[in-house]
Amino acid sequence: MSTPSPVDPRQEKSAIADENLCAVHDQPNAGKSGAAGHYHLLPLALLFVFSGLIFYAGSYLNRYSGHFSGRVFDERQLPVSGAAVAAKMDPLVLGKKQYALACVTCHMPNGLGLPGVYPPLAGSEWVLGSEERLVNIVLHGLKGPITVKGNVYGTAAMPAFGQVPGSGYNWNDEKIAAVLTYIRHEWGNAGAPIATEKVTELRTKAGSRKEWSEAELLALP
Ligand code: HEC
Repeated sequence: MSTPSPVDPRQEKSAIADENLCAVHDQPNAGKSGAAGHYHLLPLALLFVFSGLIFYAGSYLNRYSGHFSGRVFDERQLPVSGAAVAAKMDPLVLGKKQYALACVTCHMPNGLGLPGVYPPLAGSEWVLGSEERLVNIVLHGLKGPITVKGNVYGTAAMPAFGQVPGSGYNWNDEKIAAVLTYIRHEWGNAGAPIATEKVTELRTKAGSRKEWSEAELLALP
C-alpha cells in the first residue's frame, strides 16, 4: 500500500507544462530585440495608397458635392419631371445661365469679347442678322477669318455646342434657342427671340457636319 503523495500529481504535471509553454512562447521572439521586435512599421506603399485615396476623396467632394449647398440637393423636394421644369423655364433665364456657363469665358460678361481674339456679340451683325447663320454658328462652331463689326477675327475658333457627344457641349435645341434669345436681348441688342422649333428645324437641315467658314455661312439665307 503506498501512502498518498503530499503533492497533488495533477498540480505537478501542470507546473511542468507551464515551463514548457513559456519556452515555446519565447522561441518566436528569440531572434528579435528591442521595440522593433514587437512593432512593425507601416509599409511605405500603404502610406502612398492611403494618401492617394484621401486625395481622390477630396477631389471627388470638391467636384461633386456642390459645395454642400442646400440648393443642389433638397431631399424634401418632391420629384418633378424634367419636362415640367423645362417648360416653365423662361428662355432669358435659361439663356443667361447657359451664357454664364459656356460663352462668358470668351465673349466676356459685357458681350464685347477680346479685341483681336474673341469677337463681340453686342451689336454684332451675326447675332442680330440671319437666324439660320446664327443658329448654325452655335450648333457646329466656326473657324477661319470672319469679319465682325468691321474687324477681322480668326486666330481662335468658336466651339460647336450642338453635336459634340460626350464633351458636355451636346446642348439640346431648347438650350441653344435660349442662349441665342439671350444674346439677342442683352447689351442693348434688340433681336427677336429664337424659337426652339427653329433650332430643331435647322439642326435637321444641316445634319452632322464640321465647323462653318464665313463663306459657307454667307451662302445661307
Ligand atoms: C473658346 C472661346 C469661345 C467660346 C466658349 C464661345 N465662343 Fe463664340 N466665338 C469664338 C471665336 C474665336 C469666334 C470667331 C471665330 C473665328 O474667328 O472664326 C466666335 C464667334 C461667335 C459668333 C459669331 C461672331 C460674332 O461675334 O457675332 C457668335 C454669334 C458666337 N461666337 C456666339 C457664341 C455663343 C452663344 C457661345 C456660348 C454658347 C460662344 N460663342 C462660346 C470663341 C468662343
